[in-house]
Amino acid sequence: MTEQAAQIQTEALAAIEAASTEAALEDARVKFLGKKSPLNALAGEMRNLSNEEKPKLGAALNTARTAINAALDASKQKLQDAADAASIASLDVTMPARELPVGALHPLSIVKDRAIQILRRLGFALADGPEIETEFHCFDALNTPADHPARNDSDTFYFDSGKLLRTHTSSVQVRTMEKQEPPIKIIAPGSAYRRDEIDATHLSVFNQLEGLYVDSDVRLSDLKGTLEFFYRAMFGDKTEVRFRPHFFPFTEPSFEIDVKLQVKGEEPKWIEVAGCGMVDPAVFSAINESRGDQAFDPTKLTGYAFGMGLDRLAMIQYGIKDIRLLIENDTRFLRQFA
Ligand code: DAH
Repeated sequence: MTEQAAQIQTEALAAIEAASTEAALEDARVKFLGKKSPLNALAGEMRNLSNEEKPKLGAALNTARTAINAALDASKQKLQDAADAASIASLDVTMPARELPVGALHPLSIVKDRAIQILRRLGFALADGPEIETEFHCFDALNTPADHPARNDSDTFYFDSGKLLRTHTSSVQVRTMEKQEPPIKIIAPGSAYRRDEIDATHLSVFNQLEGLYVDSDVRLSDLKGTLEFFYRAMFGDKTEVRFRPHFFPFTEPSFEIDVKLQVKGEEPKWIEVAGCGMVDPAVFSAINESRGDQAFDPTKLTGYAFGMGLDRLAMIQYGIKDIRLLIENDTRFLRQFA
């Protein structure tokens, strides 16, 4: 009977060797290791054998099963390797790769990043505030009375709750002074919203960068020097910067800033780029009232503030004639800045 086991083993190994597909291999497995296999039949004979012969047959059966299993595993691996090799045989690794499209920064991001970089060098820290604002943070605390035109329904997006989409980033001045103690030196880039008729120079959402510096001895000359430095760093050493008296409710005195620039193919001309001024003491008083302390004592502190349009800056920098190009995401336009 041990010879019979060896015989079956030989047959099984030959059948496995001959199997050229996974299905044929599975058939061989069922045939030689399944319930109705000849090895199982032999095992059934075990009880008729003498005590000396039983272990001999047992050993022979084990040897046969182990050998058959090993052969099955080896054959299966061989078939799989062959299938893998076949599937990559047609692959040409010398073919040039498909081009990967590479993204680039939006012109507005480029200009914003540069503005931040220049101002951070001057010691300004980044600050942030919500785009959905209260009337207090957007207007009242900034000394802007209830009958001011900016507060009109036709100029501003109001929610039923009475909140609104901030009309300028100046609200971040208020948010920052409520949370922090003087001295404060921050810039706040971000979106602002107005109910403007959309045309080549107006969108209902646009981008500003707000600046605020509050300390015990901040002067108008500091404001002038800082902004002149900024615009020269932005547009070139020889850029002329002009401060024109103006009115803003939250600064006194207030100015608009013009920069003399030559847009490609045009005569140099003065272009308005920002509003600024010395923080009105009424703003400090409103902050103190909101905080419930005297941290911003208007008799001890002074400050300057400025707010510039970033879209405007990008349009000047790149000679872009229509602000709508900045939000259309037309890759033919954007690709020029990549
Ligand atoms: N908030 C003004 C606007 O949106 C810009 C501005 C003017 C900001 C004067 C200031 C400032 O901080 O001091 O038109």
